[in-house]
Formats: sequence, C-alpha cells, structure tokens
Amino acid sequence: MKYWLGLMSGTSMDAVDAVLVSFDDQSLAIKGTFSLPYPEELRQRLLLATRNQADADELGELDTLVGQHFGTTACELISRSGVLKEQIQAIGSHGQTLRHQPSGPAPFSMQIGRAACIAEMTGLTTVSDFRSRDLAAGGQGAPLVPAFHQWLFRCNHQDRCILNLGGIANITWLPAAGIKAIIGFDTGPANALLDAWCLDQTGRHFDENGHLANEGATHAELLASMLSDAYFSKTPPKSTGKERFNLDWINTHLQRFPELPPADVQRTLLQLTVITILRQMPQESANMTVYACGGGTFNSLLMNELRIGLGSVNLTTTADLGLDPQWVEPVAFAWMARQTLMGQPGNLPEVTGAKGPRVLGAIYPA
Ligand SMILES: Nc1ncnc2c1ncn2[C@@H]1O[C@H](COP(=O)(O)OP(=O)(O)O)[C@@H](O)[C@H]1O
Ligand SMILES: [Mg+2]
Repeated sequence: MKYWLGLMSGTSMDAVDAVLVSFDDQSLAIKGTFSLPYPEELRQRLLLATRNQADADELGELDTLVGQHFGTTACELISRSGVLKEQIQAIGSHGQTLRHQPSGPAPFSMQIGRAACIAEMTGLTTVSDFRSRDLAAGGQGAPLVPAFHQWLFRCNHQDRCILNLGGIANITWLPAAGIKAIIGFDTGPANALLDAWCLDQTGRHFDENGHLANEGATHAELLASMLSDAYFSKTPPKSTGKERFNLDWINTHLQRFPELPPADVQRTLLQLTVITILRQMPQESANMTVYACGGGTFNSLLMNELRIGLGSVNLTTTADLGLDPQWVEPVAFAWMARQTLMGQPGNLPEVTGAKGPRVLGAIYPA
C-alpha cells in the first residue's frame, strides 16, 4: 500500500485541504490534491463555536458535520485521483480547531471532525487527535509541523526558516549544523486578523492580494498598541489561536481610535503580521533562506512587505523545495499518521515543551 491521505483545515476555517502522497526515506511524491470549501452555513456555525457560542448539542452536531465534510473531501480526492482504496495505507486527519488553550488550568486543544465518520465513509484506517498526547505530556500540543519540516526540509549546508502563513503564523528554524536545536513556535496572527476585519467591514472572507490594505496607511499608534500584546514578547514554547486574536481583540485596540478608515486598519493589521514575524525570527544566520507556505503566500502585498522587511535575507516559498505552499500542512498530517502507525514520535519536545517525544494520535481502524 503505497499512499497516505492527509486532511487539514486550519484556523482560517476556509476549506478542507486534502492530499494523496507517497513517502520515501527522505522524500515524497504527491499523487493528487483536492480542496473542499466549507458550506457557508457550516462555516458560520463554526465561527460562532470558536467564540464559545455553542452548547453541548451544537458541539456534538458540529463534530459529526465536520467529520462528514472531511470524509466527503477524502472520498472525492480518492475518486478523482484514480487510486484504489487498497493502495491507501491510512488517513491522517488534523480536524478543525475550535479552541486552543494550552496554558489554562486544564490545558486542552479541541479539534472536531469525528474520525469515526471519516473511517466509516472511506473504509480506511484514520488517525486523528494528534495534539492531545503532547499536551498530556506537558507540551503546548503545537506547533506539530516542525517535526515534518525537519524530516523533509533540513539541509546540511543552509540555514532554513519555514514560515507558515495560515490563520496563525508559525516558524520552524532549521539550522544547517546538526548541533544547534530546532526552534519552532507560533509568532501570532498571520491571516486571522486580516480575515476578521475584512469580513466585518466588507462581507468578504479575505482581502484578496491585500487590495483593501493597499488603499490604507499604517497607523503608528494603533500598531504600537497592538504590538504591546504580551504574547509577542513571550519566550517559546508558545502557541496561540483565534480565541486570542479575533475581531474583539481588534475592537479593543480600536477603542482609542474610533475614526480610523477601515483601509488604514486593514493596512495596520497587515503590518502587525509582518513586524511580529520579523521581530521573532531567529537572527542567528545571515545566509538563511525563508521558505513561506500556507494561504498567506497568495497575498502579494503581505509577501512584498515581508520581503522588504527581511532585507538581505532571501524570501521564497516551499515550491522552491519541491512542495507547493498550499499542500505543506495536509502532507504533514499524512506524514503524522505514518509516524503513528510506525510507532514513531510526531512531536519535537524542544518545540512544544513536552516532557519527551511521544507517539501521537488516536487510531480508528478500517
Ligand atoms: N489571494 C489571496 N489574497 C489574500 N489572502 C489570501 C489569498 N489566498 C488565500 N489567502 C489567505 O489564506 C487563508 C487560507 O490559508 P490557509 O493556509 O488555508 O490557512 P489555515 O491553515 O488557517 O486554514 C485565507 O483565509 C486568506 O486569508
Ligand atoms: Mg485553510
């Protein structure tokens, strides 16, 4: 059985991204990809749930509906790719994060999307719930992708920084020399605030190519106020989500500046994403290359501003390393499922802060 199937939807809650992939010792090949947007009504219900506006009945229903949506995405990918189910080893499903509270009194990270539904709909072994075990071992449960970045992207002669621009931004610093430890953490918002403000002001889910932001100017005082959030100066391990960086967060900072044009706010939020990434990027190497991935790579204004801020440090995307930026995360969760079924760890304790390496995930047999 040659293929693994990865399913991912991040905090942007835009769509389920799916890949069929085969792995070699140190490389991979993508056989097929498919992305299925959430129906608008389901997306609205998920948005309310992330704001704690869902009771137990609603949470139960959403868990099933999202599981079915993930299952449909997997089935559609399989039929489009022409691959037989017998050729697929297993599915790795990240699920949909609703809340991420790694530092609360009872730490948890809640992903929904019943893997039982996915296993039932596809007839394939499904691995899910990747974050819980790392949390139970004292870790943040996030970010998990650095282990995969290390496996695929670490290189002996070049310092590399993988920058994922999803709803939240996370970086993985991969030093060339084996002696230095890998660094990985969430820097804060990438698209989460950009999307939230754009939706509130225009009804559109995201600011295509930074169009609205491009019409505005950065407001220095608003930017300074936002930069004072304690998350940005916290030392890793750290991870965050939409429970912190959301429309309420923006409106709290806007109270002192009620008359600002929406485009100025959009531009300031974009600058916030750029500056918080740049300030937290490890400065250890001048000849480092930054490889971006995730939906934010399609925002040309965001990429341009990052490029200007990085100066002599080269910015490109993971396409230059042979992996399309849109598919890095779903491939990572196909790889995670493989780690689980091989009995191998999926976390990096130096990144998450867990007590040690752990085999992650819950297995729903075919
Ligand atoms: N052309 C574009 N212009 C601006 N932003 C874009 C564009 N394409 C995608 N995005 C951003 O990428 C996000 C989706 O990225 P994704 O990597 O799927 O994030 P997540 O992992 O959080 O789901 C969208 O919500 C949007 O903010
Ligand atoms: Mg997405």
